[in-house]
This record gives sequence, structure tokens and C-alpha cells, in this order.
Amino acid sequence: MCGIIGYTGNRSVAGVLVDGLRRLEYRGYDSAGLAVVSGGELHEAKAVGKVRKLEEVVAALPGLGSLCGCGIGHTRWATHGVPSTVNAHPHFSNDRKIAVVHNGIIENHQELRRHLTSKGCVFRSQTDSEVIAHLIAEAYDGDLLAATAAVLDQLQGTYGIAVVSDRHPGLIVAVRKGSPIVVGIGEGENFVASDIAALLAHTRQVIYLNDGDIAAITPEKIELRDIRNVPIEREIAKIDWETGAAEKGNYPHFMLKEIFEQPETVENAIRGRLDHEMASAILSGIGLSPRELLQIGHIVIAGCGSSMHAGLVGEYYFEDLAGISTSVEQAAEFRYRNPIIEPNTLVIPISQSGETADTIAAVREAAAKGAIVTALCNVVGSTIAREAGRGIYLHAGPEISVASTKAFLSQVVVLLLFALLLGRNRRLSRSRGAELVAEIEQIPDLIREVLEQALEIKKIASRYAHVDDFFFIGRGCLYPTALEGALKLKEISYIHAEGYHAAELKHGPISLLDEKHPVMALANDIPGRDKILGNIQECRARKAPVVAIATRGDRAIRDLTQDVIEIPPCSRFVAPLPTAVALQLFAYYIAAERGCEIDQPRNLAKSVTVE
Ligand code: M6R
Repeated sequence: MCGIIGYTGNRSVAGVLVDGLRRLEYRGYDSAGLAVVSGGELHEAKAVGKVRKLEEVVAALPGLGSLCGCGIGHTRWATHGVPSTVNAHPHFSNDRKIAVVHNGIIENHQELRRHLTSKGCVFRSQTDSEVIAHLIAEAYDGDLLAATAAVLDQLQGTYGIAVVSDRHPGLIVAVRKGSPIVVGIGEGENFVASDIAALLAHTRQVIYLNDGDIAAITPEKIELRDIRNVPIEREIAKIDWETGAAEKGNYPHFMLKEIFEQPETVENAIRGRLDHEMASAILSGIGLSPRELLQIGHIVIAGCGSSMHAGLVGEYYFEDLAGISTSVEQAAEFRYRNPIIEPNTLVIPISQSGETADTIAAVREAAAKGAIVTALCNVVGSTIAREAGRGIYLHAGPEISVASTKAFLSQVVVLLLFALLLGRNRRLSRSRGAELVAEIEQIPDLIREVLEQALEIKKIASRYAHVDDFFFIGRGCLYPTALEGALKLKEISYIHAEGYHAAELKHGPISLLDEKHPVMALANDIPGRDKILGNIQECRARKAPVVAIATRGDRAIRDLTQDVIEIPPCSRFVAPLPTAVALQLFAYYIAAERGCEIDQPRNLAKSVTVE
């Protein structure tokens, strides 16, 4: 949460910062601000709301837009203190010589605030972050890097921080603990950001800071130190995302663009990973030999939101195809309930961003308890990818819309590949493996067929855009798909939506059904479909309108409801993928009709980097 960008070089600092903040806006959009050091002075601009408001403020401040030098910018997702210009970052020392932007939470900020106030410090904001500026000012003795390093052991919690001062033209000091910071290497200019989406337009060469690393960044050089101020070296990584991957192109929203990218992103997730000869999958990143794979006794999947839903689909795959008992954990709860990790337990954290605080905590808990940890992440070099040390990248490219679409699909595909590999390693016959390989290869075309029906889905969606509540029901692998469909709808359209196992409806929720409570029934022609037909009848008997997802040509479903979204025939393992695409489009078109801020729904942020 919260986006950070810093720039040092000869271009318009405010221009680069505002552009970077726009690309980071998915991390938070309550308020935004920047500080520019130029000509020995520190200039600031702040605005409540989206980055475009900050842009207006910058444009109205004479000369600010043309200043060169260095600067830092921030887009905020409020934790401590309401969204306001006062609480917007950067925060300043009392002498206004030091400016700081921060992502994370300083847990002991009240104690630090009391200490600083007793020494005469005046606080302007209600944020936890402001203490950092005052602490650095207190420690400052002519060396900004040393002053920043000196305060770190007083800060409890998580942080990605960037600092500038008018006493140090051209210098940005950046540090991380628990919240990502990546340094972008330019020519005669350098950058720092909370994530690489902000850097893509400028450079492909980056250095990911580790916890405790401190960077001193000027246009000419990047120096790295550890917390004891000892010089350190870090590898330069190359970003392989395409130029334009983080642009909206001709689409009205990133979400729609990302939905339509899915045939290609799924192809990317599959490419080079199918072994036709062995009727299996090749996943070298997991770093486990066939013998080690054979020893896995239990699988625990941990994730949040859509990533957890993908894990719930994966649970069916691992148990059914590989015969390995699997449980799915809400990452937020994992470490607090003292989970039992038997020897030979494989823990699979799933995270698009690789920066979700709860999932990071689960990774650490699992590693501390001796589990084998193999992560599924989209963002290369992210904290979870690096801490797990082994895993499978999704190759979905940057996902900018807050609502996850293409990452979810790639997660499910990669889980299916993983289950195929484990299955072939154990009980799955070669012929069954070969069938699955063929089914997996068909997925991109299945998705294309659903996308071709976008206009039909839009028409159906428009009939439901006015409702206040929605139920989503499914069985088997389509049960977690129903959970995902409900999450998509509620997060972008603000319609109250709940996903249930279709059988569970009768255990309580059915009491709510009437003509104002529509039901989305996932009734694909896979095992359980006949029972779902019965469930649809039960809903109709209570006058609830029903939208059904059905396999193309299923007349029985058409007899029950006029609102049918057709999915091409496919197996039960593959069915969640085209079905999820139909549900994404359904949610998107409803939200569009309601005039919602689709890419940046209220109160949400793309990466939830606080607990
Ligand atoms: O980056 P992660 O996959 O760890 O994020 C997990 C959730 O925050 C995320 O899936 C969230 O639920 C999305 N907004 C869902 O669309």
C-alpha cells in the first residue's frame, strides 16, 4: 500500500514524479504529494484524492514543473489519519530541511511521538510516518545517509522510506524493512520506487533492496550500505516486462485490458512447461528433485483474496490428481494459530504482488517451522519470491487494476501444472497425464471463446446493474470460482455479493432469497451439474432471478432461466478458467454501468502491505 517514487537527474523532477505516481496509483489513492530539491531549496506540493489533483497543484505552482535536481513522491492509502493534505506525504522535519515518504506502518509511533514532543518537536499530521522525518533531523550531523541509518533501530514495524534534504542536492536516501524498495538504474539519472511499474518507462535495470539495505542515490552513482553503514553489493536484475505492458492502450480500464490479455498471459504461464514425452509438466523453479517431490506428505497453500481462491481451486487439483492431502489457509491467520507443519510438508504461498504482508508472514512462519516453501508470484524479485528462494513465476506481466484477473487465471493454471507434475510423479497414468496436457493446451482458446461473447455478457450484466445483493453458487472446483466471482463483483461494483457452495445455500442463506436477490449459478456440464440444476429450481421457486453459466448447448438450463452465459465444453479441472473469465466480464460490465471507479475501487489498494 502507498506508492513511492524518487528521481535524481536532469529532467523535470516533478514531471517524472507525477508520471511515476500515476503508474503507482493502484497502490493507494487517498492523497498524493511530492518534494523537490532544486537550487538549494526544498519545494512541496500535495493534494487530496487522485494523482491528477496533485498534477493540477503542481501546474498551479509557478516554476515547480521545470525544476531539475532530485525529489520524492508518494501516493497514499490511509492507515493513520484521514486523507488530507496535512496527512499526505512527504512529511517534513520542523526546520523543513528534510522530507520523507514512507510506505508501511511504524508500530511504536506513539511512543516516538511522545519522546519527540517532549524534546520540542511540533507534529503537523496524525500519521505514524511523520516521526521518521523528526528522528532523522534529530540524528542529522551533516550526513543524510548516516542520520537515516541511525534512526532505523528505533523504528518498529515495516517501512520503505525515501528521504531528501535541501542540504544534499541530488541525493536520495532509501531504505527498506518489510516494504519493497527497488532502485532503477538510468544513464546520468537514477530512480527509486516501491515497485517496478513506476520504473518501466525509464529503465529495465534494477536493484531490489533487501531488508536493512540503505541506498544513497545520486545521478552518477548508487551506493549501498547495510544498517552498520558497511558497503554492500547487490545484483543488478533485468526487468523483462514489455514496454507498454503497464499502459492502458485503447481500453477504458486496465481491468478490461487485463481480462482481454488472458489468452496470452495464460500462454505465457504454460510456455515451455509442458512435457509431451513424459505427459507431465516441467517446473524447474520449484527446485525439488523427483525423489523430493515423492516425499511430500502434505501441501499447505496460503494466500489472501483472489490468490487464496486460486489456492482453493488448487486444493482440488492436488488431492484429485496427485493424491496429496492439501489444506488452504488464509495467510492472515496462518502464523497466529500455530499451524502444525509435519516433516515433508510443502507450503505454497500464492501472491500476485509478492508483497502482501500477511502472506510474507506466512512464508516466514512456514520456513521457521521447517516446511519446504515454493512460492507462486507474478512480480519478479518481490519479497515473497526472494524469501521463498524457489517457486514458479506466473509471467502474467504487470497487473495494474486493483481487481485481480489475469494473475488469478495464471495462478490456477500454474497450480494445475504443478498438480500434473506431482500426479505423474505418483499415481497419474501416462494416458491421463497426456489428456491433461491436451486440456491445458486448449485453455487459451477456451478463454478466447468466452471473450468473443463479451457483448452478450454485457447485455445480461446490464439487466442486473441495479441490484443490491448477489449470490454466487458452485460445486467442486467451481465453488472457489463462485467465491472469486462474488469477490470481483463486490470489490468493483459495490454490490453486496457472497459466494457459497451450492449445497450450503439450504443451510441458511436461502432464507434471504426473493425477487431482489439474484443468484449466479455455475452450472457447467461437469460432475455436480445435475445437483446444481436442482439448486437453480430451488432458487427460482423462491422467485430469485438466476443467471447461469452453462456449457454451450445445455438446453435444460435454458429452460430454467433466460440469462445464460455459455462456456465451451471442457473438463472439470479446466472449467474454472473460462468460467472465471465470464464472471470477470460480468462484474466489469455491471461496475461500468454503475459508473464505478473500476481500476481503483474505493478503500482498496493493489498490494496490501500492512497487516
Ligand atoms: O498480491 P496478492 O496476490 O498477494 O494480493 C492478494 C489480495 O490482496 C488480492 O487478490 C485482492 O483480493 C484483489 N483485490 C482481488 O481482486
